[in-house]
Amino acid sequence: MMLNHLSNHAVIADALACLRNVNTASHDFRRAAKCVTRHLVAVASADLPTQITTVQTPLEVATVKQLAQPPILVPILRAGLGMLDAALDMLPQASVGYLGMERDEQTAVARTYYQKLPPMAGRRVLVLDPMLATGGTALQALEALAQHQPERMDVVAIIAAPEGVEVLLQKMPGIRLWLGAIDRQLNPDKFILPGLGDFGDRLYGTD
Ligand code: URA
Repeated sequence: MMLNHLSNHAVIADALACLRNVNTASHDFRRAAKCVTRHLVAVASADLPTQITTVQTPLEVATVKQLAQPPILVPILRAGLGMLDAALDMLPQASVGYLGMERDEQTAVARTYYQKLPPMAGRRVLVLDPMLATGGTALQALEALAQHQPERMDVVAIIAAPEGVEVLLQKMPGIRLWLGAIDRQLNPDKFILPGLGDFGDRLYGTD
């Protein structure tokens, strides 16, 4: 696996500051999450295959490139939903598959409680998982998706822990990783430090 992108963008840094701030209200949190996601999805999809065609401008016929085949977006529920609208803003023709995964509060081990996926064989897949902590959830999701034989899988995460990056580097060669930030470490409860707390709770005001 390659770490393809670690954001070093002033606007994204500002959005990350907003996400990390415990005093940020849910509506501002959602807006900042969308800002980071749009940027990461744009860089992650920069090399999608295109086809050359023509369109009529108001003045003449222009030769243009269009996406040959839009990818499949797979948000990991529930937190990944906070990235979906922004990803669809960038890739409006994408199909969407859903994976519902929940990690046990005690063991931090993830279990799949919902799965609804479009046909994936030969398609590119962008997994939307905002917090790459132990990597356990992402790994389980990628293993489940790999069974559907996509052409390639990319993981888009807003914040990662070094532990999670390491797990995916070792266990998932061929996966590409696009990150807003890599933080210091995990705490004993497997939360990312300094992180931003529970992404889903911050997003939906459930804490
Ligand atoms: N999931 C979260 O929402 N936050 C973390 O810090 C780790 C996993």
